Amino acid sequence: NSTTEETLYRPNFHFTPKANWMNDPNGMFYLNGKYHLYFQYYPDGNVWGPMHWGHAISKDMITWEEQQIALYPDDLGLIFSGSAVVDHNNTSGFGKDGITPIIAMFTHHNMQGEKDGTLDFQTQSIAYSLDEGLTWTKYDKNPVISNPGIKDFRDPKVIWDNKTNKWIMVLAAADKIMFYSSANLKDWTLESDFGKDLGQHDGMWECPDLFPIKVEGSDITKWVLIVSINPAAPNGGSGTQYFIGDFDGKKFSVDADFNKQLQQEKAVWIDYGRDNYAGVTWSNIPKNDGRKLFMGWMSNWEYARDVPTETWRSTMTIARELKLKKSDNGYLLVSNPVTELYKHVSKTIKKDSLIVKKQEDIISKNKIDLARLIVELQINNLKEEQYTFLFHNKFGDTLSFGLDNKNKLYFLNRQKSGKVDFSEKFANTISKAKKGNTSNNLKVQVLLDKTSIEVFYNNGETVFTELFFPNQPFETLSIMSSDEKLILENIKIEELKL
Ligand code: FRU
Repeated sequence: NSTTEETLYRPNFHFTPKANWMNDPNGMFYLNGKYHLYFQYYPDGNVWGPMHWGHAISKDMITWEEQQIALYPDDLGLIFSGSAVVDHNNTSGFGKDGITPIIAMFTHHNMQGEKDGTLDFQTQSIAYSLDEGLTWTKYDKNPVISNPGIKDFRDPKVIWDNKTNKWIMVLAAADKIMFYSSANLKDWTLESDFGKDLGQHDGMWECPDLFPIKVEGSDITKWVLIVSINPAAPNGGSGTQYFIGDFDGKKFSVDADFNKQLQQEKAVWIDYGRDNYAGVTWSNIPKNDGRKLFMGWMSNWEYARDVPTETWRSTMTIARELKLKKSDNGYLLVSNPVTELYKHVSKTIKKDSLIVKKQEDIISKNKIDLARLIVELQINNLKEEQYTFLFHNKFGDTLSFGLDNKNKLYFLNRQKSGKVDFSEKFANTISKAKKGNTSNNLKVQVLLDKTSIEVFYNNGETVFTELFFPNQPFETLSIMSSDEKLILENIKIEELKL
């Protein structure tokens, strides 16, 4: 029943709509101390249906207040994914009486066109807001980009390009990304396309993002192109790959070193867990902040409609900061939880070390609530052994993850984590990712909420985000290892007051 569902499954510190269906994050922008999050929303049911944009506001990207629906379907179609920008110079002309307009650009999906079999069913449209994103007016000359004869043509992400002094928009067109430019957000020119022969292609390309970012510890700026794909993620279903390169205002070209990585790995992924999809970054983050802030939809099209919550369906990931690192192994886009999260910590337990003889408990529920938990620890001097962390309870639910350092593989296993049989695809595999570096030390950070785990290895070099639905809350976190000399170090366990 719904009370048990609320207590057992409603996340403590991740965004969920009060009721009904949600998918991709949309239109994220920051203004005057507020982070805005819009999202694909179906207000009349708990599975995907005619899409609206829902809306939530936060001061710190952690606690959210849901707002009224921002965009409703209309004659041109449903409101699919897209983005929003703050038009400081009123290039669009929608500003009035000195009020800065916010412009949203989204895909209109015309169901009739889909039924007719005509190809014009996805077009790009805009809407503007003069009250900081609360209410929106659609442009009366929509769509602003008509369909060029490509069935899947969607998810526009707009950025301001300082070099060309123009708006740049990227969208996904089935198996490639198309780049457009505009001076006023209304008239768009096609500049180029990218990606036909690069990256993973055994699925539909969706929800791109493009932004410049400094390489950590240098003055070099590179461009990141994020591309979600469904299916064909490394561990099945929906996932998000990225490309590192340069962008000259017209064309994106892959960096030579990154290209080498692609030759070896085919595609490089932002997250190796099964539940981080369609993620993009916030726009209009002030220069003196300068972070690239990202959030994804914490689900997977393989079973999103079947997960065992009825009142609402779907959750967003924790907001993350993205950084670009370069090492001998190539480029790495690392993700870490935004530091705002730590402002909500109410209890901290520290241990310098814990000697592990085969299996030891790290923390249990009499000390801390495991459903609002951050754990950090470190293992130095890794051996060629197996290191398995386990969340478990006395009902026999277990969620395990860690490193198989013989085979240099990280893993996450939710096969016995509780309810799994609502979909064949939910627990049919164990998620894995190659350990990219040769370091003998391992840093682990884990965020555990009621139904989600987010694991950040080595400061976000490798990330796993996954859902689970235990029969009862987890009670203990343990470690099990074949390393006879194992010592866990710098253990920090935190409880959030959310
Ligand atoms: C990605 C996606 C987008 C589309 C939206 C529809 O999850 O398929 O490509 O705009 O969802 O809800």
